[in-house]
Amino acid sequence: MEYTTLGSTGLKVSKLCFGTWGIGGAGWDDNSEEVRLAAIREALESGINFFDTAPAYNGGAAEKLIGKALKESGKRKDCVIVTKCGSDFVDGQYVHDGSGRHIRAQIDRSLQNLQTDYIDVYLLHWPDEEVPVEDTFGALKEIRDAGKVRFIGVCNHSPEELAAAEKICPVDVVQEHFSMLVQDRIPTLSYAAEKGMGTMAYGVLGGGMLTGRYRTLETYDEMDSRGSFYTFFQEPGFSKAMKLLTRLDRIAAECGTSLPELTLRWTMEKDFVTTVLFGAQKAERVRANVKAMSLRLSPEKLAAIDRAIAQEFAAEA
Ligand SMILES: NC(=O)c1ccc[n+]([C@@H]2O[C@H](COP(=O)([O-])OP(=O)(O)OC[C@H]3O[C@@H](n4cnc5c(N)ncnc54)[C@H](OP(=O)(O)O)[C@@H]3O)[C@@H](O)[C@H]2O)c1
Repeated sequence: MEYTTLGSTGLKVSKLCFGTWGIGGAGWDDNSEEVRLAAIREALESGINFFDTAPAYNGGAAEKLIGKALKESGKRKDCVIVTKCGSDFVDGQYVHDGSGRHIRAQIDRSLQNLQTDYIDVYLLHWPDEEVPVEDTFGALKEIRDAGKVRFIGVCNHSPEELAAAEKICPVDVVQEHFSMLVQDRIPTLSYAAEKGMGTMAYGVLGGGMLTGRYRTLETYDEMDSRGSFYTFFQEPGFSKAMKLLTRLDRIAAECGTSLPELTLRWTMEKDFVTTVLFGAQKAERVRANVKAMSLRLSPEKLAAIDRAIAQEFAAEA
C-alpha cells in the first residue's frame, strides 16, 4: 500500500480509500454480512486504513458495519474514518437537511453507529440551499471544537460554495465525483488542492462501469443507484461509456493490466487527487483493486488515456 498525507489535516492515509455506499446495503448486488465483513477485513489486511461512510448509506447500516469490523480488528486508532452529515436515508428515501439542529443530532448517532468517541473527518454530504451557510457551518465548527470530530470537509460543492463555507469554519477535506466519465467537479478539486486541502475522488470506477463488467444495457430497480446516480447506466451515457471502454480495453492490453487497475492508477496520478475511493462488497474485488498499487503507467500511457477520454467528451459536445 502507498500512503499519503491528507492535505492540511496531516493525517496519514492509504491512497486507496474503502467506500461503503454499496456494502451498506444500497440496493445493488446485496451480499451476506459475512461476505461484506470479509471485504473490510481484506482491506485492513492489505494496508487500507481509510474508510468512508455516511448515515445516508442505508440509514446508518454502513456506519454500523464499519464500526463492527473496526472494533473486531482492534485497529480503530490506526484508521481514519470519514463520515458525513446533512443527508439521511429514511423510509426508502434520500433526504437532505443541512440545519445545525439536524447535524447536532446526527453526529451523536454516527458516533454510536461507528462505536467510537471521535470521527476523524466529518463531511457535509450535499449543500443545502434551504439553510443559511452560517447555521450549517456554525454547527460543524461547534462539533469540531467539542472534540467529536477532528476535521471538517464538504462533498458535492462548487468552488464558490466551498469558499463561503471556509469563511465560517476551517475546511480541510473535499470529496467530489471524479472519474474517466465524470469530470465536471475538477474545478472544486483543483481549488481545494491549490489551497492545501486533502481531496478524495469518488465514483472513480463509475459505479462498476469502468471495471468493464457491464457490456450490455440493463434496467435497474428504482432504488438501485446504478440506474439513477451513475447516469451512464442509461442511454445516452451507456453508449458513450462503451465507446470509451473499447479504447481503454486496448490501452489496458498494451499495459498488460486490468481495467480496474488502469482506472484506479490513472486517477491516483492526477495532481488534484489525494486519495481514490472504491466501493466493493467482496474480498476478491478488494484484492483486484489493491493490485493498482504495483501498476506503473508511463507518461505516454497516461496521455493516451487522457486523449481517449477527451475524444469521447469532444464527440459528446
Ligand atoms: N460524497 C458523495 O456524495 C458520494 C457519492 C457516491 C459515492 N461516494 C463514496 O465513494 C465510494 C465509491 O463509490 P461507489 O461505491 O458508489 O462506486 P465505485 O467505487 O465507482 O464502484 C463500485 C462498484 O464497482 C464494483 N467493483 C469494485 N471493484 C471491482 C472490480 N475489481 N471488478 C469488478 N467490479 C468492481 C463494485 O462491485 P460490488 O459492490 O459488487 O463489489 C460496485 O458495484 C462509495 O462507496 C462512497 O463511500 C460518495
